[in-house]
Amino acid sequence: MIPSDFFRGRRLRSSLAMRELVRENAVTANDLIMPYFVVETDDDSFKKEISSMPGQYQLSLKQLKIKVGEAVADGLKACILFGIPAEKDDVGSGAYDDKGIVQKAIRLLKDTWPELVVIADTCLCEYTSHGHCGLVKNEYVQNDPTLNLLAKAAVAQARAGADMVAPSDMMDGRVAAIRAALDEEGFINTPIMSYAVKYASAFYGPFREAAESAPQFGDRKTYQMDPPNVREAMREAVADLEEGADILMVKPGQPYLDIVRMVRDTFDTPVAVYQVSGEYSMIKAAAQNDWIDEMGVVMESLAGFKRAGADLILTYFTEDVLKVLK
Ligand code: PBG
Repeated sequence: MIPSDFFRGRRLRSSLAMRELVRENAVTANDLIMPYFVVETDDDSFKKEISSMPGQYQLSLKQLKIKVGEAVADGLKACILFGIPAEKDDVGSGAYDDKGIVQKAIRLLKDTWPELVVIADTCLCEYTSHGHCGLVKNEYVQNDPTLNLLAKAAVAQARAGADMVAPSDMMDGRVAAIRAALDEEGFINTPIMSYAVKYASAFYGPFREAAESAPQFGDRKTYQMDPPNVREAMREAVADLEEGADILMVKPGQPYLDIVRMVRDTFDTPVAVYQVSGEYSMIKAAAQNDWIDEMGVVMESLAGFKRAGADLILTYFTEDVLKVLK
């Protein structure tokens, strides 16, 4: 005689409709933020695939507009922009030039799609000749002298029409500096999505090809967080909240789901997670070998972010996921 009082989990898994009825988490188009790389070039036809990120491109302004247009037609709600300037210098001038490439891209996108949420990544590394996220002296990335430049970059982005700025540099005090500068210029309603908990990760490798932002010497370990640390993540998050961050981001994503959960449980702000370039490239590479089902793995990885408590997800798979959701 088989006892009949055990848990019969299979009852609610009997069909797709039944499973969907009891599904606990869902990814929607509202949650997704697509990163784009825009290049300063006179060649309107410039569209270069990033070799370590198949399916992702460096785009001229014109090509960006075409790409975003297709994504908007598929339901794109938000994007984040990274710029690749024609000239780099040791103070990252392109980051805070009103005619800088990202500022131009923001104006173009906001003129064309006023409802699209256009977020600007605020950092110097794509604009500096040495590839570091701050001002360098004797091969040391200086904290306080960098703050003013980050604040200028955020103001230039807001002036161009950015709906939100997202500082990713990991200098101490930058959220406070950016908030003060934005307020002073009248941008009191421009939110800050802080890369609050950003680890010094090997998973950023492909991005540095995409953004041409690899450090020319050393690494980013003196300013980005040490991967084994948990308690320190809380200190970073608290600091950024106190300085005025509106949204807290955890980055990378999949290897740091414990941190996403902890930030979600500890704070009441929206929490964002960044599925970074290396996470994208690994899935792509395995899929190109027919080792995994690409969209199956993608949807499962995004479900993992939702389960861990993320509200917003930055992912290079956004355009593909929008097609699935449609
Ligand atoms: C700029 C920045 C980086 C990423 C986002 N903003 C690179 C870095 O810190 O080296 C990484 C994104 C990705 O890997 O997809 N500071």
